[in-house]
Amino acid sequence: MKTPTELLNKYNVPIPRYTSYPPANFFTDQFEEKDCIEALKQSNDDDPQNISFYLHIPFCSKLCFYCGCNTHISKDEDLIKEYVNTIKKELFILKSNLDPNRKVSQIHWGGGTPNYLPLQHVQEIMSLFHEHFTFINNPEIAIECHPGHLTFEYAEGLIEAGFNRLSLGIQDFEEDVLKAINRDPAIIPVKEMRDYLKSRNISVNLDFIYGLPLQTKDSFRETMIQAALIQPDRLVTFSYAHVPWFKKAQLQLEKLGLPNAEEKVRLFEIAYDVLGQAGYKSIGLDHFAKENDELSIALNNRSLHRNFQGYCTRETTGQVYALGVSGISQLEGAYLQSTKDLNIYKQAIHNGKIPIEKVHFLTKEEKITRDIINQLMCNQYLDWNQLALKHKVSVYDIKKISAFEPQLLAAFEEEGSIKFVNENILITESGKFFMRNIAALFDPKLKNTDKNFSKAL
Ligand SMILES: C[S@@+](CC[C@H](N)C(=O)[O-])C[C@H]1O[C@@H](n2cnc3c(N)ncnc32)[C@H](O)[C@@H]1O
Ligand code: SF4
Repeated sequence: MKTPTELLNKYNVPIPRYTSYPPANFFTDQFEEKDCIEALKQSNDDDPQNISFYLHIPFCSKLCFYCGCNTHISKDEDLIKEYVNTIKKELFILKSNLDPNRKVSQIHWGGGTPNYLPLQHVQEIMSLFHEHFTFINNPEIAIECHPGHLTFEYAEGLIEAGFNRLSLGIQDFEEDVLKAINRDPAIIPVKEMRDYLKSRNISVNLDFIYGLPLQTKDSFRETMIQAALIQPDRLVTFSYAHVPWFKKAQLQLEKLGLPNAEEKVRLFEIAYDVLGQAGYKSIGLDHFAKENDELSIALNNRSLHRNFQGYCTRETTGQVYALGVSGISQLEGAYLQSTKDLNIYKQAIHNGKIPIEKVHFLTKEEKITRDIINQLMCNQYLDWNQLALKHKVSVYDIKKISAFEPQLLAAFEEEGSIKFVNENILITESGKFFMRNIAALFDPKLKNTDKNFSKAL
């Protein structure tokens, strides 16, 4: 894959990342608690009926300089224990608002470093879920792990607690890159850990980042070749998000020099080619999965979904209920974002309150636009009739709501980024790099906004 430089320059403009629609900078702090409770209760009658839980564990042992996540560097065991107890209380507050007949289809532990928690805490929380909720058959129970902390004993403990998918944050295999980003390498060779987990029937994901200091085309190719040889079920190659005004430690990376937008794209293209040759299918902007993986099958059937936790299939997709600091509940009708502040979080839960700091309640029109953008970003395909059927409105109305102007797509068609299939829109493989630019054409909010967005690449 080689994307022409002039197209990269043309489309490297400020644009939403569309991890949610509307994007998080449209959320507001002007709301009343009762509106959130009402939104939670309303979600019981909405689709999808399944429940996805997201748990945020913010603690890490040391700060990786590139990190863009909500983290808290601490070795304070009491602080961690107190947080675990608060999460348990929050689970009960949440449960009191959920219909007991609804089933859990997905639990995702993210962070921070969830596997930095003593195993016993993880097991206690998982036991509570099993005690208080019913699950679908084969739910997806996933956890993000730092391989610098992951021993075989710990992995076995996670399996006993019910986890069936582990994501290992590799970022890069090169020693000098890891040193530059202040990150410890895996304590167990990744191939050995992968083989062990596969022998226990656990899915293995590996995370990488492109755009870090000292990464060259040759070094990143080596990292990708090594990644493919390990044979994980899925891989993610994140584009490094540089936000030093928000994450001061990232300034350290500037001293070593960061690749420019085009150099970053060339690194991604290496990942795309190496992983493609190794039999991995490219999913969305940054995911890769084996051809027989359920994500690849769902993409082939144009039935892929996604939430803040990543891509999912129809079976595992649920409305997301977040626990812990900074989590965002992603309901059919609302986004509810929790405070990022540990103390405010603990105080709220202690007082029996939900720790929500920002919200957005979706209108019918926004739900339709969200579906259009999700269809394009997940399945690279927009089927007008299918959407009209789902939302019980005419195709004419859907086009009107989404600010659809066919002439805006003409350039993308000429450049080979989209094709029309009857009136439906297909994003081609070479066009997927501009997925967000294409999706933005269907976003009426962008027509008249004072919000700032980071550049596409
Ligand atoms: C929040 S981390 C959680 C896992 C664990 N703490 C670890 O580092 O392995 C999840 C993933 O987010 C990605 N990530 C973190 N900061 C990023 C940034 N600034 N830009 C792009 N990806 C980032 C990394 O690939 C990381 O593996
Ligand atoms: S990348 Fe992971 S381990 Fe590193 S600071 Fe961020 S959350 Fe913690």
